Amino acid sequence: MNKGFMVVFDGSNGAGKTTVIKSVEMYLLSKGFDVLLTREPGGTPIGEKIREIILDPATPEMSFMTELMLFGAGRAQHIQEKITPALAQGKIVISDRFDAATFSFQHFARGIDLDTIVKINDLALAGFSPNMNIILDLDPVEGLKRVQSRGEGLDRLEDEKADFLINARNGYLTQAQQHPDKFSVIDASQSKEQVLADVIVVIDALLAKHQ
Ligand code: TMP
Repeated sequence: MNKGFMVVFDGSNGAGKTTVIKSVEMYLLSKGFDVLLTREPGGTPIGEKIREIILDPATPEMSFMTELMLFGAGRAQHIQEKITPALAQGKIVISDRFDAATFSFQHFARGIDLDTIVKINDLALAGFSPNMNIILDLDPVEGLKRVQSRGEGLDRLEDEKADFLINARNGYLTQAQQHPDKFSVIDASQSKEQVLADVIVVIDALLAKHQ
């Protein structure tokens, strides 16, 4: 049986994660791999309920600590219910966002101190860590334009000021600098084809390492 591994796609809102993830799934399926697509916040029935609470634009009063702990709660459930069993079955798990987002959004953008973030994240992760974070890097102002052009309403986090999203982006870039073995940054302002080609280079390297 193949060894399972987990890759996370993350980055600015509107950077094209959904399209890239679909293409990577097709690429891996065409090579005969067993793939599990999932996301955060969400990924499990409980996690999807938590997602609705977190992203609801009708409750802007949510405290930063409540938000952090909800992300943590969803993550604990996600790992236990979905990710660990899939990896044990040799699947390649692809998650649309994961723990790096908590550092970027709740620490770098919200300003919650690092010790608190690490504490909550460690409780949620219980020693687990994804194998790779692929960051689709895009100027968040450009990303927001793309989100708006889809004609969907903004969720509670997308509705934040530009500074919030810029700080979150810098959070990803900082993490990537600090942990080059766990992060790959892809320039998402390139054409869709080039973004995908760059991503596939990273995926191929992971396959070579884990199979
Ligand atoms: P999505 O719309 O890309 O699915 O992401 C939902 C929002 O949640 C996005 O604005 C990023 C944010 N987020 C955090 O603030 N912290 C986290 O830990 C995660 C997973 C997402």
